[in-house]
Amino acid sequence: TKAVTVTTLGALRAAGEKITMLTCYDASFASLMDRCGVEVLLIGDSLGMVCNGHHSTLPVTVAELAYHTAAVARGSKSAMIVADLPFGAYGTPEQAFANAVQIMQAGAHMIKIEGGAWLAETVRFLTERAVPVCAHIGLTPQSVHQLGGYKVQGKTTESADQLKADALALQAAGASMVVLEAIPSQLGKEVTELLTMPTIGIGAGPDCSGQVLVMHDLLGVFPGRKARFVKNFMEGQTSIDAAVGAYVAAVKDGSFPALEHCF
Ligand code: KIV
Ligand code: NA
Repeated sequence: TKAVTVTTLGALRAAGEKITMLTCYDASFASLMDRCGVEVLLIGDSLGMVCNGHHSTLPVTVAELAYHTAAVARGSKSAMIVADLPFGAYGTPEQAFANAVQIMQAGAHMIKIEGGAWLAETVRFLTERAVPVCAHIGLTPQSVHQLGGYKVQGKTTESADQLKADALALQAAGASMVVLEAIPSQLGKEVTELLTMPTIGIGAGPDCSGQVLVMHDLLGVFPGRKARFVKNFMEGQTSIDAAVGAYVAAVKDGSFPALEHCF
């Protein structure tokens, strides 16, 4: 199969075909997901929680993300590889670029950073220097101590308007894609209609251009609290291949997320 690029993602959005994305942290799962047709593999800083047992994503380092990114890059053939910049790694555009270089040289095709319009300058700085950027707005887990917990965002008119302004500013600055986490479905739909870049939802409703889940949630192996937007795709399946295949099929045909996974 052909390599998934930033051009492919734009074409999928334009064609109205849903984009499938999963987190991935090692070569064996990268190979499996690639084989199952997952278009985007995300080396999320969620690895601090699901692989290392930390209670938040804050302790994750650039070196850890680079290590896991290299493993995923070795295991996958055609998927697009996106990796997070961790907490504290993009306080200035220059710092973001230096850390993005580490992650790109480990094998990422795009980096993801959490935050709104305040990051526009950083997005421009990175994209001018050939680092494609996926933005991440709504519930941004690196801000958990600022937000006062893992809470649904964009519920008031004021915060919904702010989120739309953030999305537009990040797109204008050169972002290629945006993750929308834990926002009302209606806002996920409105933001998607407002933008030309693809939106990838996790708890943002069925109208985003694509969906993402943490692989440990999809397989039902994460022992922590389950968010509303999580679905265990191992249920009713007898192999991991079949569970990932069921996820891809459910995203493509629009049956995931269902109402019960949405805000
Ligand atoms: O780190 C992560 O897994 C993420 C996804 C939940 C979007 O950022
Ligand atoms: Na993340």
